[in-house]
Amino acid sequence: MPVNLRHRDFLKELDFTRRELEYLLDLSRDLKRAKYTGNERQRMKGKNVALIFEKTSTRTRCAFEVGAADQGASSTYLDPSGSQLGHKESIADTAAVLAGFYDGIEYRGSAQSNVEELAAYSNVPVWNGLTDEWHPTQMLADFLTMHEHARGKPIQNITYTYMGDARSNMGNSELVMGAIMGADVRICSPKALWPSEEVQEAARERAEESGARIMLTEDPDEALPGSDFVMTDVWVSMGEPAEVWNERIKLLKPYQINRAALEKTGVPHVRFMHCLPAFHDTNTKVGQKIAAETGMTDGLEVTDEVFRSEANIAFLQAENRLHTIKAIMVATIGD
Ligand code: CP
Repeated sequence: MPVNLRHRDFLKELDFTRRELEYLLDLSRDLKRAKYTGNERQRMKGKNVALIFEKTSTRTRCAFEVGAADQGASSTYLDPSGSQLGHKESIADTAAVLAGFYDGIEYRGSAQSNVEELAAYSNVPVWNGLTDEWHPTQMLADFLTMHEHARGKPIQNITYTYMGDARSNMGNSELVMGAIMGADVRICSPKALWPSEEVQEAARERAEESGARIMLTEDPDEALPGSDFVMTDVWVSMGEPAEVWNERIKLLKPYQINRAALEKTGVPHVRFMHCLPAFHDTNTKVGQKIAAETGMTDGLEVTDEVFRSEANIAFLQAENRLHTIKAIMVATIGD
């Protein structure tokens, strides 16, 4: 049976089979090639998409807007103050209203239950642009990027280690996506910051089907050897109060990705990945404040040295947000 994702929501990785996710990755590659060669065929002409962002974004927003424009669709950006959602109108009512105007709806916000509710009350596809629990559009970009830099290795032979705060969207998604796709996934962080038991259980179930190898460890010396890719995310997630910083930094300092961590992989062509934005220098207000308060002037979750090195493929990973998000829209609402 051919894969058909028309009219499907894209809410979390667990809703999809490996074959369906592979289909989206193949489509992403086709769309990327078509854009590079000037041969892109517009499959979303006359369509309209709504982009609801209750949290800030650079990559996800730009990927949806440029992806829609490239495919001939128009987009409407709704920021936290730009709609009645959550203030004067419920999610269910908003879903019903927007479904009358739009062919697809992107939502970025806090609770996964919000995007699930939006999908339940709208009869057009809803795409999760990040919630506290999952970041599924990011996963397609990460896997496309790993495939491109794996020197010919199939996904099932790729080993990657996610270091840092693993109990929220990025940790959950990296664990579960790797489990579905059959990779060798290592989560390396203090046990208190591991994905929940429920997420671990879901990952183990999918790993049994796919042959994925899963490791959760507190020890970088156990996780890093043999890793083709080492990845991380900011140590405090969007929405967490600034007071959390000092405690979290103390906990996560041993999990910083620095030159020594990359050397521990023993993989000469190891690559560093980050969904971005990253705190690797003091060129941001937040980066400056943290450096002043903690004395960590050479970066937090990743050192400036690693970030500026040849190992860093985070900007290529960022570009792949465009091709993969475009693939999700084309597959679900395209001609
Ligand atoms: N990685 C990511 O989701 O980036 P934005 O927050 O800029 O969308």
